[in-house]
Amino acid sequence: MCGIFAYLNFNISRERRYILEVLFNGLRRLEYRGYDSAGISIDSSLTSSNAGVAPPSLVFRQEGNIESLVKSVYQDVAATDLNLQESFLIHAGIAHTRWATHGEPAPRNSHPQSSDAGNEFLVVHNGVITNYEVLKESLVRHGFTFESDTDTEVIPKLAKFVFDNANEEGVGDKRVTFSQVVLEVMRHLEGAYALIFKSRHYPNELIACKRGSPLLLGVKELTEEDNRASFNDSKFLSSNGEPKELFLSSDPSALVEHTKKVLVIEDGEVVHLKDGGASIFKFDHAKGKGGETLVRPASVQRALSVLEMEVEQINKGKYEHYMQKEIHEQPESLKTTMRGRLIRGGSCKAKSVLLGGIKDHLKTIRRSRRIVFIGCGTSYNAALAARPILEELSGIPVTMEIASDLVDRQGPIYREDTTVFVSQSGETADTLQALEYALENGALCVGITNTVGSAIARNTHCGVHINAGCEIGVASTKAYTSQIVVMAMLALAIGDDTISSQARREAIIDGLFDLPKKVKEVLKLDQEMKDLAQLLIAEQSLLVFGRGYNYATALEGALKVKEVALMHSEGILAGEMKHGPLALVDETLPIVVIATRDACFSKQQSVIQQLHARKGRLIVMCTKGDAASVCVGGSCRVIEVPQVEDCLQPVINIVPLQLLAYHLTVLRGYNVDQPRNLAKSVTTQ
Ligand code: F6R
Repeated sequence: MCGIFAYLNFNISRERRYILEVLFNGLRRLEYRGYDSAGISIDSSLTSSNAGVAPPSLVFRQEGNIESLVKSVYQDVAATDLNLQESFLIHAGIAHTRWATHGEPAPRNSHPQSSDAGNEFLVVHNGVITNYEVLKESLVRHGFTFESDTDTEVIPKLAKFVFDNANEEGVGDKRVTFSQVVLEVMRHLEGAYALIFKSRHYPNELIACKRGSPLLLGVKELTEEDNRASFNDSKFLSSNGEPKELFLSSDPSALVEHTKKVLVIEDGEVVHLKDGGASIFKFDHAKGKGGETLVRPASVQRALSVLEMEVEQINKGKYEHYMQKEIHEQPESLKTTMRGRLIRGGSCKAKSVLLGGIKDHLKTIRRSRRIVFIGCGTSYNAALAARPILEELSGIPVTMEIASDLVDRQGPIYREDTTVFVSQSGETADTLQALEYALENGALCVGITNTVGSAIARNTHCGVHINAGCEIGVASTKAYTSQIVVMAMLALAIGDDTISSQARREAIIDGLFDLPKKVKEVLKLDQEMKDLAQLLIAEQSLLVFGRGYNYATALEGALKVKEVALMHSEGILAGEMKHGPLALVDETLPIVVIATRDACFSKQQSVIQQLHARKGRLIVMCTKGDAASVCVGGSCRVIEVPQVEDCLQPVINIVPLQLLAYHLTVLRGYNVDQPRNLAKSVTTQ
């Protein structure tokens, strides 16, 4: 949901073309966050840090994806004779890729947004400013005119207003520092945001700040001595005059090819990049002499941390698309999810599960009145798949909440509840708002995310990382299967290790050990799913019936088809078939029925027969060897999958449907990694 990026080279000569390419590559890495339009700003000519007011920066903005921007920038550069070989010893450039929230995708609504025609202040923004209308009204009263429909435009204009006012009050052009301007701007902003500011009043400086939306600073030292120093040394943030490259990014995927040394910027922090160093400020709430609360900026000391991500993770490798790569990576991602967490047991020791992130809270969880799963989209579906096993092993009632619905209803959450927040990105605004609500209500909050350091990981009391590796395809695939596995392990960790449950627990643990192998096996259906996709290519609609553990598979399979193949698709609880959906059935509408072996198998057989009786066009997913017996009463196409322990079967069953969605999309000619109107990490409500 919008990606912001910046590149600042300090005491190292970089040509304009190089700077442009670093910015474009940063945007390419972030493109999955939004791809409606994009923009950058670079300097028009040489500016030294003490040059006073620099000439207006160049701003390029273009509707469409990053490649449209790249093309238009190089066209503009050629048309204006701008020298691509011109070198800059110090230079600060900013960039943005947009997922439209306020205003249609168009150059004027793209970022950087500007304070005025002279580009005195430029801003790239990820998030939403909720009080922008009030701010806009007030700025209009002070003579500002607005050219965009965005919420963002108030920010650079407010910065100019603050800067002009401070200077009017006297004492020269530099009465206020860049960070003071931004701190003052921040005091007026409401909503969620990550921002990068560039200004001609402060050449070669950048300011980054955030509240709610993610933002990281990457530091690349260019001398050997600095590289030998400890990562945890805060001297990396200080300016020592040594050559350095600094990067700001919405997520680590745009940093890892440059550096692994990062600062995860925290909410409320303002990071001022100047002269090769980074100063960090935060509002401090202190008590005044009369007991009043004084809010004033204070300087903060922080150390860098090391990114645990490899460049290979963000490349497509031998695959054509990220979604395809991520589907085929599942045997490996599942292994990483389980690594170090399953204990094989021994002669006198039972097999067990160790989840370090929650072990100190297990007693509280076991005493909970309820466990409430909360999430959106695919993450919600993963929790739904895990619900039955958690109920079975823990004996605690488990309820499901779609995050936005819980917040809309202000549904009941109690101190005695354990709330479990499931989110791949850990940044989804709806889930975060639900988390805030649960915290206010005193519930124990557990986070299950794929993003270390994300807002959900930081703001929950405890949690489990799913460790599925970076997921770039907008449609979630490997994160889904890893989430189910983490929640199955959670069920084992919470559930009592009683004699009566021991055989079941051991079967699940054995099943988990075996799962990557079984997923590898089911991935062999790739060609079969491509053939099926070819058959369904021109269809308008697809229904998916599931029940029990695989109700979630039906919802998730349908969600995949709908979001990437842009085909209407609905996941239906098979038990509800007779209560409405049956009316849709005829000989043309394709219907997938999930009928793998579990306690619901015979009920699904009867669903198949009832659908046959209405001449339904059936595609049945069944357990290997069941093909002949499952389609009694009519003809159908069969997808045979390997059998695993019932609670893990959703991990197997979703794979053919992921492959189907992938192939359908490619065959229908749509962009599989960047589905229309969607973005990874939905940070607005
Ligand atoms: C669908 C998909 C979305 C996300 C949802 C929640 O493929 O990815 O439905 O699952 O937007 O996102 P996270 O898991 O990041 O909270």
